[in-house]
Amino acid sequence: MFYRNIDEGKVISQEEISSGIFSLWIKNEGAKHANAGQFVGVYPNSKDTLLMRPISICETDASEGKMRLVYRVAGKGTKEFSGLKENDSVKLLANLGNGFPVDEVKGKCIVLMGGGIGIPPMLGVAKALKGEDVHAFIGYRNKDLFLSDDFLPNCKVYIATEDGSVGVKGNVIDALKASTGLKPDVIMACGPMPMLRAIKQYAAENGIKAYISLEERMACGIGACLGCVCRTVKKDEHSHVNNTRICTEGPVFDAEEVDI
Ligand SMILES: Cc1cc2nc3c(=O)[nH]c(=O)nc-3n(C[C@H](O)[C@H](O)[C@H](O)COP(=O)(O)OP(=O)(O)OC[C@H]3O[C@@H](n4cnc5c(N)ncnc54)[C@H](O)[C@@H]3O)c2cc1C
Ligand code: FES
Repeated sequence: MFYRNIDEGKVISQEEISSGIFSLWIKNEGAKHANAGQFVGVYPNSKDTLLMRPISICETDASEGKMRLVYRVAGKGTKEFSGLKENDSVKLLANLGNGFPVDEVKGKCIVLMGGGIGIPPMLGVAKALKGEDVHAFIGYRNKDLFLSDDFLPNCKVYIATEDGSVGVKGNVIDALKASTGLKPDVIMACGPMPMLRAIKQYAAENGIKAYISLEERMACGIGACLGCVCRTVKKDEHSHVNNTRICTEGPVFDAEEVDI
């Protein structure tokens, strides 16, 4: 459902759910119209951080008009957000990007993959696909897990950690390989670029359809500044260049279509 507006959101609650990782629930209009995998632009108040910060929509409660953002403190903007308290106002550019094609994959064996701060949007996808044959592979550096319990009521959950402290030692693809007998028809993923490249390659080698959510530094979020372009395999019909804008044509792409 298309919705684009500057929302005046109201903070419902915020908590630190792992070291430096915050879960923020906001009441805003965009929450009623969001697709899993879309993102919002959150505006800092401080005058020296003018641009919105893109943050994925982790999950929504459309009937209550509330959305959850889960983010890592990376710099000035996110540090400011971590100080938001109940009833504070927060300005959002909502809703941005396309989201995952959840309706197209129903009835198939679906593997979700999330790595690090790419895990939050995959929770919204798991909830949108509740009742389907969904297997979520979530990867962390170490035992400082977050959101893993939130996936459990929605799908089967498989954990990978780089240091082997929980679940399979390695990354999400190592965990998928270790789960004998599972033959996905489709993979949907969000995470760091090396993980997405590996998923693109794994999917191509195994004849699996893959959708990946890309991240890039963003300025406008609405397709105007070309600050977020990514190379595509085919030329765009209109502009005749091998480029696409992650903020508008993405952030979710068919892995075969992007040159990453
Ligand atoms: C579509 C999209 C969805 C995102 N979803 C989430 C999310 O759900 N949770 C979350 O924690 N983060 C998410 N991010 C990343 C988040 O936008 C950045 O961490 C944030 O903008 C940093 O702002 P800052 O002011 O705190 O840090 P800055 O001071 O601007 O930067 C701090 C550090 O982070 C790096 N950085 C800034 N922006 C990005 C970026 N887009 N990608 C990679 N590195 C960056 C900078 O190079 C610098 O090293 C998303 C980014 C995009 C494009
Ligand atoms: S951020 Fe401006 S075009 Fe994508």
